[in-house]
Amino acid sequence: MELPASGTAQTIDDGKPILELHKICKYFGGVHALEDVDLALYPNEVLAIVGDNGAGKSTLIKTISGAHRPDSGEIYFQGRKVEISNPRVARQLGIETVYQDLALVNTLDVPENIFLGRTPTRLRWFVDKKKMFAQTREILERLNIKIPFLRDPVQNMSGGQRQALALGRAVAWGGRIVILDEPTAALGVREKSNVLTLIKQLKAHGVAIVVISHNMRDVFDVSDRIVVLRGGKNVASRPKEETSMDEIVKLITGALESVDIAHQD
Ligand SMILES: Nc1ncnc2c1ncn2[C@@H]1O[C@H](COP(=O)(O)OP(=O)(O)OP(=O)(O)O)[C@@H](O)[C@H]1O
Ligand SMILES: [Mg+2]
Repeated sequence: MELPASGTAQTIDDGKPILELHKICKYFGGVHALEDVDLALYPNEVLAIVGDNGAGKSTLIKTISGAHRPDSGEIYFQGRKVEISNPRVARQLGIETVYQDLALVNTLDVPENIFLGRTPTRLRWFVDKKKMFAQTREILERLNIKIPFLRDPVQNMSGGQRQALALGRAVAWGGRIVILDEPTAALGVREKSNVLTLIKQLKAHGVAIVVISHNMRDVFDVSDRIVVLRGGKNVASRPKEETSMDEIVKLITGALESVDIAHQD
């Protein structure tokens, strides 16, 4: 299988959202995990989703990545109503998700992980390792990801390298939207900084990024806009320049009610 020519998004930025959620609701038994959530994601932006434990962040991104079906509400992709009924549909739309556990296969090497489920074949049944290797190197170079030993199983790699590899894989297949759930939670200082740099590079490649994080410094470093979930509701959406860590923390805890509806999506 050939990689897309550019390997990354070719989204036309016409000022309209690439993805829109309208009144998304999700129940788990009696728990109202998401309540009438509206959300807009624009091309070339990093959108941070913040909120306390149990606020609904992971549930929200799982409705976008096809892991959960919402009980009600609508999702629009480039203005067109879509039913993201499973993760395959999300990937076909160009929505790639990097979960906390990264879903890498530890015993496989780097090219095998990049091509997981998409292995190129020669003469139908022979896996074309040479091609996989060359394309993997090209992807990593394009994104400036430094992994010295591509033939090693990924279990020998550091947390930051694994995160970078998962990000590389997400965009290698033409991801237009990349969703990251707590990408820096388990990383050291330098690795964290590398992943944040990589997120900025993806944005420069035209990818829209949704990032969940509890780390306010990372959120303010990397994002353009911040959405706050509380008790399953979207209580605020703020351009980073128009808010502060103090305000966001108060919105998360409920010490500050969002009265400024003008900022809402
Ligand atoms: N599969 C599930 N079954 C039942 N309840 C669930 C399920 N997934 C989430 N919930 C509930 O939905 C609510 C939102 O959970 P969610 O995982 O989205 O929170 P979160 O904001 O990601 O929290 P955290 O910061 O701890 O990861 C919680 O009350 C949680 O217990
Ligand atoms: Mg979560």
